[in-house]
Amino acid sequence: MAIKKVGVLGCGLMGAGIAQIAAQSGYDTLVREVDAAFIDKGFGRIRGMLAKGVEKGKVQQADMDATMGRLKGTTKLEDLADCDIVIEAIIENLDLKRETFQTLNKVCGPDTLFASNTSSLSITEMGAVSGRPDRFLGLHFFNPVPLMKLVEVVRGLNTSNDTMEQGLSFAKSLGKAPIVAKDSPGFVVNLLLVPYLLGAIRAVEMGIATVPDIDQGMVLGCGHPMGPLTLLDFVGLDTTYYIANIMFDEFKSSEYAAPTLLKRMVLAGYHGRKSGKGFYDYSSDPPKPTAGLVMGA
Ligand code: CAA
Repeated sequence: MAIKKVGVLGCGLMGAGIAQIAAQSGYDTLVREVDAAFIDKGFGRIRGMLAKGVEKGKVQQADMDATMGRLKGTTKLEDLADCDIVIEAIIENLDLKRETFQTLNKVCGPDTLFASNTSSLSITEMGAVSGRPDRFLGLHFFNPVPLMKLVEVVRGLNTSNDTMEQGLSFAKSLGKAPIVAKDSPGFVVNLLLVPYLLGAIRAVEMGIATVPDIDQGMVLGCGHPMGPLTLLDFVGLDTTYYIANIMFDEFKSSEYAAPTLLKRMVLAGYHGRKSGKGFYDYSSDPPKPTAGLVMGA
C-alpha cells in the first residue's frame, strides 16, 4: 500500500516536528489536537522552524510555502479516516493512548498503519489494544525532529514483516536514517542515553565539577554537540525522570534509578528550557548555571 496521506496525533514539540517533515516530504498531512489553540501553536512553531531554515539557506521559500499548504489541522479523530498511516505523538499516558487507538481503529480503513512515537511505553501493549497489532509499530523520532536524522523503527511482538518494511521505507522517504529495534524499554538510544544523563546528574550531586565544566568535558572531550546537562534541559527533566522511572521499573537496575537531585528539580518545576529553568537559568542570554542546586554552589 502506498502511503499518500499522513495523520499525526498531537501537535506538541514532537508531533509538530513529525508533521513538518511529513509535509516537507510531500505528504498531505493532517494533525489532530484536542484544542484548535494547540494546532495554532504547533503550526506557529513549524512556520518558525521553516523560516529559520530559509534564513540559513537550507529551505527554499517555495518549499516552505508548499509545506505549509500540505499541512491541515483538526480536532476530530474521525477526520483521519482516509490517512494511510497515523503517527501518535500525544502525552505518555497509556490509558489515553489506548482510548485514542481504539477509536481510531473504528474510524480508519483496515490497511491504515498505526505508529507510536513513544520513547518509553510498550509497542506490543499498545498494538494489542489497538485492534490491529500486526499493523502497529514504533516510529521513534528525536528532538529536534527536522534536524535529527535518526528514527528507531520498533517491532512489537505482533508487528508483521510487511508493516516493518513499510515503516522503514516511510522513514527513509522522510529523509531519515532508520534503525530497527525490538520492543524493549528505551529501545536502543534511551537504553544507552538515560544512564549517561543520570550519571551526569550524579556527578553534579557529588560535586565532581561545575555544571558548565561537566558539559564542556563531554563536548570537547567526546565531541558531543551538547553537554549532558544542556541536553537534559533540552529534552526536559520531567520527561527524563518519567522515562528513567519506566526503565527502572522494568530492569530494576540502579543505572536507571533517578538521582535525588533530578526528582527534587522536577518537583520544584525545574523542567529545563521549556520551564525557563533546569541546570541552567534561561532568563538571561546566554543562560547561567542555576544557583543552589547543591550545597555551596
Ligand atoms: N531548518 C533547516 N536546517 C536547519 C535549521 C532549520 N530551522 N536550523 C539549523 N539547521 C541546520 C544548520 O544549517 C546546520 O546544518 P549544517 O550542519 O549542514 O551546517 C545544522 O542544522 C545544525 O544547526 P546549527 O549548527 O545552527 O544548530 P546547533 O549547533 O545549535 O545544533 C542541534 C542544534 C542539532 C540541536 C545540536 O545541538 C544537537 O544535535 N544536539 C543534540 C540533540 C540531541 O541529542 N537530541 C536527541 C535528544 S533525545 C530524544 O529526543 C529522544 C528521547 O526519547 C528523549
